Amino acid sequence: MDTIFKRRSVRKYTDAVVSDEQIKQIIKAGMAAPSAKNSQEWIFIVIRDKEIYNAFMSVHPNAFSLNTASAAILVCADLSKEKEPGQGWWIQDCSAAIENMLLEATSMGLGTLWMGVHPKEDRIACMKAACKLPEGIEPLGLVSIGEQTKEYAPIDRYMEEHIYLDAYGTKWDK
Ligand SMILES: Cc1cc2nc3c(=O)[nH]c(=O)nc-3n(C[C@H](O)[C@H](O)[C@H](O)COP(=O)(O)O)c2cc1C
Repeated sequence: MDTIFKRRSVRKYTDAVVSDEQIKQIIKAGMAAPSAKNSQEWIFIVIRDKEIYNAFMSVHPNAFSLNTASAAILVCADLSKEKEPGQGWWIQDCSAAIENMLLEATSMGLGTLWMGVHPKEDRIACMKAACKLPEGIEPLGLVSIGEQTKEYAPIDRYMEEHIYLDAYGTKWDK
C-alpha cells in the first residue's frame, strides 16, 4: 500500500541508466493488470531513441520529462484483439496496465511520468509516425522512466466529500 501513496509524477531524472531488466520487470507488472474479458490487447514499445522523445516534445509542451528520461514506454492497444470491437474497453485495460507500471517502478525506487497521448490527435499522429505503428495499433499513453533527483512527499488526497452512501448526496459518515 505504501507504494501507492509514494508514487508521484516525476519530471526530472538523474543520468543513471534504467536497465532493460528493470524495464522488463515494469512491463511484466503492466501485463499483470486486469483487462475486460481478459483481452490483454496491450502492446508495449520501449523507446530509447532521443529523436522520438524530441518528436513528442514538439507536439506536447508538458513532455519535458523526456529531456532527462533514461527510457520511455509507449502503451498501445492492438484493436484486433478487442473482444467487443468498438466499445473502447482498451482504454481502461491499457490505463490499468500503465498504473501497474507506475507502481512497480515506484517500488523499484524509480521515478515515472504518465503522459497522455490518446485522445489528442496531434500526439497520436506523432507517436504513430515516430514508432511506425501499423493500422489498428492505437497509442494510449507514454511513460517516461528514470532515477529521480529528489524524494517526493507521499500523497494523501482523501476527501470525504467525494463519497456518498447508496445515493448521490447522502453523506457517508465514517
Ligand atoms: C491520463 C493522464 C495523462 C497525463 N498526462 C500528463 C502529461 O502529458 N504531462 C505531465 O506532465 N503530466 C501528465 N499527467 C500527470 C498528472 O499531471 C499528475 O498525475 C497529477 O498532477 C497528480 O500528480 P501526482 O501524479 O504526482 O500525484 C497525466 C496523468 C494522467 C492520469
